[in-house]
Amino acid sequence: VGGGVIGLSIAWRAAQAGFDVTAADPDPGQGASHAAAGMLTPVSEAAYTEKELFGLGATSLARYPAFAAELTGATGRPTGFRLTGTLQVGYDHDDLAVIDELRDLHDSLGVPGQRLTGRECRRLEPMLDPAVRGGLLAEADGSVDPRQLTRALLAAVDRAGVRMIRQPVTRIEGRTARLADGTEAGADWVVLAAGWNSAAIDGLPAGAVPPVRPVKGQILRLRGPAGFLTRSVRGVIRGSSVYLVPREDGELVVGATQEELGEDTRVTAGGLWELLRDARALVPGLTELEFTEAVARLRPGTPDNGPILGPGPADGRAGGLVLATGHFRNGVLLTPVTADAIVGYLTSGQLPEVAAHFTIERFAGGSA
Ligand code: GLY
Repeated sequence: VGGGVIGLSIAWRAAQAGFDVTAADPDPGQGASHAAAGMLTPVSEAAYTEKELFGLGATSLARYPAFAAELTGATGRPTGFRLTGTLQVGYDHDDLAVIDELRDLHDSLGVPGQRLTGRECRRLEPMLDPAVRGGLLAEADGSVDPRQLTRALLAAVDRAGVRMIRQPVTRIEGRTARLADGTEAGADWVVLAAGWNSAAIDGLPAGAVPPVRPVKGQILRLRGPAGFLTRSVRGVIRGSSVYLVPREDGELVVGATQEELGEDTRVTAGGLWELLRDARALVPGLTELEFTEAVARLRPGTPDNGPILGPGPADGRAGGLVLATGHFRNGVLLTPVTADAIVGYLTSGQLPEVAAHFTIERFAGGSA
């Protein structure tokens, strides 16, 4: 249930493992996957309290080269996967303190990160503002183009024999999913991967409803000369965080707002102004680039920012239900590891160790 990068990659891997797979989504790839920038950075998106999430992200990043190569090999389609690194930069004393904290986090997690002066940052990225005073380079980070990834996954599931139903699932009861037109589909397993919508599906018993909420992100796309930036650049400007993710063909993705406004997906003047204001502070020359698109979508947020993976509650009331949702800011990064973990569970009845922390059980007892 759900045809974003998470649902499609699970469908692909499950079909490869020999399952007979039906996937349902009214508009595959048009939810959060459509907006995502595709930055693959396990450290920058994890906080001190999120060590398990960092471990999951690092495992997924390590699997990306083989995952992307296999997908392209199977379909002939690119994914835009590149390992070009992330440069986190800062201006003033407070920003540099944030960068030093980030370096300490890198050290504590055993991730190589190189502290740079402002001049060293500009040597790597000449378009940076001269006022940038320092930075931290995470060379092992990568990026992927989520729209190319989605198209490749759609081709892969098609070739693997997955049946795609272009309708929303409105209800899941036991091992049966009801579609919007009232028809029902039965299965041995029902994998719920509907992003922020996962909590809105009727019929799930108490304790099996994933605690996900919509967290709006507005993001914009610019186009300029290839090589305008060579790696992802992030910065905190007066407390608000902005990132710029370049693609090989000259696209530059600037993101993203983080807003708790329910189901609102309007692109607002204020959202775009903030993004452009902060991006221009980092890279003044981007005002010369062509503006191509602004879009807003809803991330599936969870109470602890980690995804919800594996079977429903341990009491077995939701037998046959498997959750793969709540990936919040990390859905694209966590795609390979999520697909492996869920299909590992379907084939062996055991969630692999790296994912074991992320079952819905961690929210039992009211914290959800
Ligand atoms: N991972 C970036 C974002 O969610 O905005």
